Amino acid sequence: MPRAKLVVLISGSGSNLQALIDACEDRQLDADIVLVISNRADAFGLQRAREAGIENDCIDHKQFACREEFDRALAERINACTPDLVILAGFMRILTPAFVTQFYGRLVNIHPSLLPKYPGLDTHQRAIDAGDSYAGATVHFVTPELDGGPPILHVRVPVQLDDSADSLAARVLEYEHQLYVEAVRWFVAGRLRLENGSAVLDGKTLPANGNRYAQ
Ligand code: GRF
Repeated sequence: MPRAKLVVLISGSGSNLQALIDACEDRQLDADIVLVISNRADAFGLQRAREAGIENDCIDHKQFACREEFDRALAERINACTPDLVILAGFMRILTPAFVTQFYGRLVNIHPSLLPKYPGLDTHQRAIDAGDSYAGATVHFVTPELDGGPPILHVRVPVQLDDSADSLAARVLEYEHQLYVEAVRWFVAGRLRLENGSAVLDGKTLPANGNRYAQ
């Protein structure tokens, strides 16, 4: 079977991208990242792609009159490499329903909360403010509802008494790297799909918050 083709979209540091690059390189993932796109030219993740010899591009959303035009350009660039899976890894743009629908079932995201709790921004501060005992991260299929698509896999990370949003984010991020590689591995092995609005692994519908990652 040919290796799966992945496209990764980023906006920033790209540490999740790096985890995926490393997993492809050491054959933990039977896949190749064929393109990395950032909407910001200064994203450090673009440097990571260059260092790994991966084709990369900046498509600056500010150069487009509206969200729809940006998404059309993005989709065109992605489709040119016929990817099996499009991976959002810290991509900080809300995608239009037209874009999401086009990639339905082959578009995934990682969100730094235990979904369905805390969609959107400031997830770790919100968990601390609510007095939650656990924070975490969730990999999910992307649907037009922001951070609302079917969860695939989540990790629970205890909140410590002296945690700031930053310290908690840093601890969760380490797990994100493992979580994302695991979920992508399922997809490229043909074990994971989106079916009738649910995430299905090995023919079984996953729980509403996705499988729990065994730490
Ligand atoms: C991660 O916390 C991810 O969950 C969120 O954005 C952050 C990206 O981090 N969507 P990085 O760019 O992968 O280091």
